[in-house]
Amino acid sequence: MKITIMGTGYVGLVTGACLADVGHQVFCFDINREKIQQLLQGQVPFFEPGLAQIIKRNVSQRLFFSDDFLQSLNYADVIFIAVGTPPNGDGSADLQYVLGLAEQIGSHITDSKIIVTKSTVPVGTAEKVKQVVDQQLEVRGLTVNVEVVANPEFLKEGAAVADFMRPDRIVVGVESESTKQVMSEIYAPFNRNHNRMMFMEVKAAELTKYAANAMLATKISFMNDMANLAERLGVDIEQVRLGIGSDHRIGYHFIYPGCGYGGSCFPKDVKAITQTARQAGSPLTLLETVDQVNQKQKQALFNKLNQYFAGELSGKVIAVWGLAFKPKTDDMREAPSRQLMEQLWQVGATVKAFDPEAMAQARLIYEGSLKLTLVDNPYDALVEADALVICTEWAVFRAPDFEQMRQLLRQPVIFDGRNIYDPHAMACLGFHYYAIGRGK
Ligand code: UGA
Repeated sequence: MKITIMGTGYVGLVTGACLADVGHQVFCFDINREKIQQLLQGQVPFFEPGLAQIIKRNVSQRLFFSDDFLQSLNYADVIFIAVGTPPNGDGSADLQYVLGLAEQIGSHITDSKIIVTKSTVPVGTAEKVKQVVDQQLEVRGLTVNVEVVANPEFLKEGAAVADFMRPDRIVVGVESESTKQVMSEIYAPFNRNHNRMMFMEVKAAELTKYAANAMLATKISFMNDMANLAERLGVDIEQVRLGIGSDHRIGYHFIYPGCGYGGSCFPKDVKAITQTARQAGSPLTLLETVDQVNQKQKQALFNKLNQYFAGELSGKVIAVWGLAFKPKTDDMREAPSRQLMEQLWQVGATVKAFDPEAMAQARLIYEGSLKLTLVDNPYDALVEADALVICTEWAVFRAPDFEQMRQLLRQPVIFDGRNIYDPHAMACLGFHYYAIGRGK
């Protein structure tokens, strides 16, 4: 099938590449010419395992990139919208890019189209897109049949290709039978063995996306709150985690305590849905607290450091391992490492940091900062550092050379925001080891 994807950001690019890889003909449009040029040469603007290979093997055969809007519009009858929906000042999602595209589509189409919203968009957006397109058609005096489908993605950064290829579910909010058929055909290659397609009402699909992220964020904040209590009570939260995860109704997923959730999705989506709820007169009080707990949790590492050094952090050198908001990505959006480093700088400390993938991002964000030194390997960060803080649980940090670490650090102190080591083993190795919810 022929498919057009508008927007080659994270979601659009993964979607386009994976659809092409199973044999569809995919035309990806973006207004950013430089990005299009890079993509044509097989360069991916961000790190995502497996994506570059997929693009390389499909580009110019089944996968096309262009900044020519009209060409992309005329290429296919199915148009995926995958542009950004950044947060407004009040936390709600800014729809200017989505609706801007809808306006352009309405001003240029001549035959019927299926428009699929892939970006995470507030409930009612598909309806708005349809209105905007129809308004333009009316101005042009045309009657063209346009249906808008809500098809949210559930991709995890760092595992997006695998998630797309082997989805838990494919949620499609759709009205007509004929469009259902088209969507089934598009997703048929990912729907083998058992049926993963879930057709539902358009608004239900839009809300499903937010509800899923909200539930996951709630699990994390719940666990972080519980970890803080465990710490006070002298209980090891890791034992509690295993104790509750074994209950099938609770499960082991997403109950890892840590230094707070980050990324481009959870913080933004939790805020957006709570904003929608307030506007709808049905506030999501629980979720508002989830967000507050997370903001507090992102200060946990700083507070522990501050306590350890009795408020004397000025002039201290702090080593940071892990800058990305989670492993297997170079994304530092809303990463706990950022809050920590910025708080440290405010009180006069400096940071030496290492991340396996996010160094270029860090350079971009903190360009010219004299308080941040980026080093090429984890051990260089420890040289003359007063303490080590672990912000991201990259695999390479899991079994380091502890002896070397102890020798390099000025003081053998580790603050672990991801609970990757065993406290007893660390004590035996001579470290002062502070983790999340594992005793004082
Ligand atoms: C999340 C969802 O998992 C995807 O299903 C969804 O499609 C995506 O948002 C989106 O809306 O686009 P992602 O943000 O890539 O995916 O990352 P996650 O793996 O969900 O992690 C989010 C944050 O939660 C990370 O900072 C991670 O460290 C933290 N986390 C996760 C914990 O602190 N504890 C846990 O037990 C699990």
